[in-house]
Amino acid sequence: MKLPPAFERYRSEVDCELRAVLAERQSPLYDMMRYHLGWVDAQGRPLPGSGGKALRSTLCLLACEAVDGIHHRALPAAAAVELVHNFSLIHDDIQDDDRERRHRPTVWSIWGKPQAINAGTAMRVLASLALSRLGENGISGEKQLRAQRILDESCLRLIEGQYLDISYESRLDIVVTDYLEMIDGKTAALMGCSLELGALIGTDDESVIRGLWGFGRNLGLAFQIRDDILGIWGDQKETGKPLGSDIRRRKKSFPIVYALDKMAGEVKTDLTSIYQSEVIDEAGTLAVLKILDDVGAQRYAQKMVEMYRDKALGTIDELALMPAARRDLEGLAHFLVERNS
Ligand code: IPE
Ligand code: IPE
Ligand code: MG
Ligand code: MG
Repeated sequence: MKLPPAFERYRSEVDCELRAVLAERQSPLYDMMRYHLGWVDAQGRPLPGSGGKALRSTLCLLACEAVDGIHHRALPAAAAVELVHNFSLIHDDIQDDDRERRHRPTVWSIWGKPQAINAGTAMRVLASLALSRLGENGISGEKQLRAQRILDESCLRLIEGQYLDISYESRLDIVVTDYLEMIDGKTAALMGCSLELGALIGTDDESVIRGLWGFGRNLGLAFQIRDDILGIWGDQKETGKPLGSDIRRRKKSFPIVYALDKMAGEVKTDLTSIYQSEVIDEAGTLAVLKILDDVGAQRYAQKMVEMYRDKALGTIDELALMPAARRDLEGLAHFLVERNS
């Protein structure tokens, strides 16, 4: 599935900004980051292209343009949110015990967990340093301070969400509201932050900044539920992530939470006994898939994705935004609910 043109438009500028943040950092520690970002292979040899979709940086720059700001000035914020996102992925792959991301071995599976924790933590620090480059773009000290606080608070929300995600692994009493609290932290907070920072840099209008944050937050909820669908029914060739690992890890992803809620009697006992077994093997995974199919979990989950997309679109509906950027934001929202990778 081809990415909308907005992704391509900013890619090289964001890439340049990220490379400037990492420039002259010599320790092999930074080569692990360059590897994760898709710039080099495990031996440090340059690779063409780059790693992820760069969704959060794209949203940040689009928000800046949407409020009639100069997107170039928001590049430090775009780089910062992309680094926070990538820090969270390096740690997430350790936490989830996943060996593959973006079609490549994860950092920990090459360098081991201790070094991967270290590289991820350092990347989080680099995100703050990246944001401090706002000063060079003529952004006031007051706005810089506010931007740092927004980034830190959102990062804490992400980590709180990861706390819940991990703690839910050993629980079977998770309901939809618990699930929503978890993804509001682990995914939606940084998405909201990305738009909030872009808007903050481009305008002083608080209601527009708030509205764009709300767009990002709701889009983040839609995005994560879609991610949960792809984690179970996606095509591994497209997602670049291992299939079925959410079930094996007993993750309370949306389709599972829905099934736990909908099931009654014997079938519920089947599902919970699989989740209580010591290891969920291939047969267990297939049995879970069958139960999910029986309750129509995929269809219901996709409905929720579309509901949050519409909620996101509703938050910007009444805002006075630049027409081209508004179209891009709306196009992106529609793309994300259909995405396969
Ligand atoms: C993956 O995010 C992690 C989630 C929040 C679901 P992305 O799908 O945006 O990751 P990349 O950067 O494009 O690989
Ligand atoms: C996404 O976590 C959120 C963060 C990494 C903070 P997941 O564990 O659900 O995402 P994937 O599927 O590994 O990308
Ligand atoms: Mg994961
Ligand atoms: Mg995870």
